[in-house]
Amino acid sequence: MKTRNDRAGRHELIADPKSEEINAYLGAKLEEKRYQHVLSVRDMAVDLAGKFDADLQKTNLAAMLHDCARWMNTRQLFDAVADYEIGLDEFERISASLLHALVGAELAVDVFSVDDEEILSAVRSHTKGNRAMTLVDKILFVADFAEPNRTYPEAESVRQIANEDINQAVFEVARHKITTLLEKGLVIHPDTIAVYNGALCENTDL
Ligand SMILES: [Fe+2]
Ligand SMILES: [Fe+2]
Repeated sequence: MKTRNDRAGRHELIADPKSEEINAYLGAKLEEKRYQHVLSVRDMAVDLAGKFDADLQKTNLAAMLHDCARWMNTRQLFDAVADYEIGLDEFERISASLLHALVGAELAVDVFSVDDEEILSAVRSHTKGNRAMTLVDKILFVADFAEPNRTYPEAESVRQIANEDINQAVFEVARHKITTLLEKGLVIHPDTIAVYNGALCENTDL
């Protein structure tokens, strides 16, 4: 059984005081299962960053930060949205599950003084994607969905695809998310549909 410190120290090459500060915050704030998810996302994201030549430090920080607001309940999230004066679109207003990503980016700035837009963008869009995804955005979107602790069957196949083709993996994640939301009768953010359509339009062989 790995301890928190064992897991946290796995990627010593990217050891960074900021990362350690975030790690301590997450260890105190998140439930154990969520904390382990974050470390697993970080491990997968950093591995993918190495494979596809993305910035390791930025990928590491984006992954560590992505669920930093996940300890908040819906009320606390809406309070934070008001406090940080986050402008919600009509889809975000009725999708509480999207709020932790937006609030998380604000906490990254406010609590951890992270001001790198590439990191903040990846945190903001890790759940729904965005219309012009950077490589770090894509890696976090995929790793959040497919890290090895995820129990749904699609996680395994997306992990395999991600090792070969990050764009194809992004498409598969969007496809699975849209399918699940349709089955549950929930609102689908247009950014997720744009990720899905964008991948198809870029690659007509799909
Ligand atoms: Fe999340
Ligand atoms: Fe997550």
